[in-house]
Amino acid sequence: MQCRKNHYFSDMERNIRAQFLQRFKKEPIVFAAPGRVNLIGEHTDYNNGFVLPGAIDKKILVAIAKNNENVLNVYACQFQQAASFALQNIKPVKGWATYLLGMIFNLQEKGFSISGIDVVVDGNVPVGAGMSSSAAICSAFGFALNSIFELGLSRMELALLGQKTEHNFAGLQCGIMDQFASLYGKAGNVIKLDCRSLEYEFIPFNFPDYRIVLVNTMVTHSLASSEYNVRRKQCEEGVAVLKKYYAEINSLRDVQGEQLQEHKKDLSEIVFKRCSFIVNENKRLLHGCDFLKKGDLQSFGEIMFLAHEGLSKWYEVSCLQSDFLVEQAKQFNGVVGARQMGGGFGGCTINIINNDAVNDFSESIGKLYQRQFNKAPEIYVTQIEDGAKRIDY
Ligand code: GLA
Repeated sequence: MQCRKNHYFSDMERNIRAQFLQRFKKEPIVFAAPGRVNLIGEHTDYNNGFVLPGAIDKKILVAIAKNNENVLNVYACQFQQAASFALQNIKPVKGWATYLLGMIFNLQEKGFSISGIDVVVDGNVPVGAGMSSSAAICSAFGFALNSIFELGLSRMELALLGQKTEHNFAGLQCGIMDQFASLYGKAGNVIKLDCRSLEYEFIPFNFPDYRIVLVNTMVTHSLASSEYNVRRKQCEEGVAVLKKYYAEINSLRDVQGEQLQEHKKDLSEIVFKRCSFIVNENKRLLHGCDFLKKGDLQSFGEIMFLAHEGLSKWYEVSCLQSDFLVEQAKQFNGVVGARQMGGGFGGCTINIINNDAVNDFSESIGKLYQRQFNKAPEIYVTQIEDGAKRIDY
């Protein structure tokens, strides 16, 4: 392994450069952006609420150099696919390339001119696992374009472009959490983000005796984008009704539990459930931040279990597999908290586990899951790391 400036290059970092040199016969610049975990605060971002994500040690790499054509030539190592796209009249496509095209399109719409580029993409963020592989690709590519074309955009502007790309090139009406975490992550910290003001605060996740362990149900959430957008609509429906009574309400962030109770009869049962979940999830997150600051991980873990119950029964974005994993985790000594993470309908559960129990937990949850669903889950013991950056070779 080569080493420079205290940075040990991973295999992926060395390989992407070699791939690029071999394909395009010139030296690239390489950028990386990570996936994310979210400790608590799910589906609150597009309701103007709070989230508590952190960037992780799984990432997307983008190797890039300009070319003299007006074309994007790209090779994706993970999928072993090459493609070329003209840079005029860009349209969404099926699959991973849509994120690159979306970022270019949205930059062009802002008035930036992007000339031809050669690109190799690689990564180890599992796709469809609720760890934000798509935000990581948008963040890495946006960061790369910003740098090589000297666009002068801030990390927040890049995050917003990534979010817009999800909206107009992938059809997911997502919030800002994933792109924000991928660009703003800081090693050893989670970030309390106020999605209304976009103010944020780093909170150290400083529990050396505990690890964050993700268990991948291997259920890729095909339902996710359509049902996700439905949830968003249901929340907006709740806001529209409540606003008739309280002019100051512009999002579920502004709603108090008592106001919701008072107007329960004005809302459909489903909309009431969705709104209740969001109002409670924001409260849980605020308590959760206090617990973390006090070093009270046990109480934090308890609200993670409560959050899962809300996701499963009130917001109805869980699935049998995630419910099973959380139920098993609850019974396991050394697990302080667990819940389904991300957009839902599968993906990963996030578990906070005492170091001493991590191996036993992984082995036993693997066996139980295999017995129940005839499928082995992947298990990732994660680290909270820095957000998007350039890799200097
Ligand atoms: C997906 C979206 C985020 C957020 C989460 C749920 O990851 O991209 O904006 O809404 O789901 O918390």
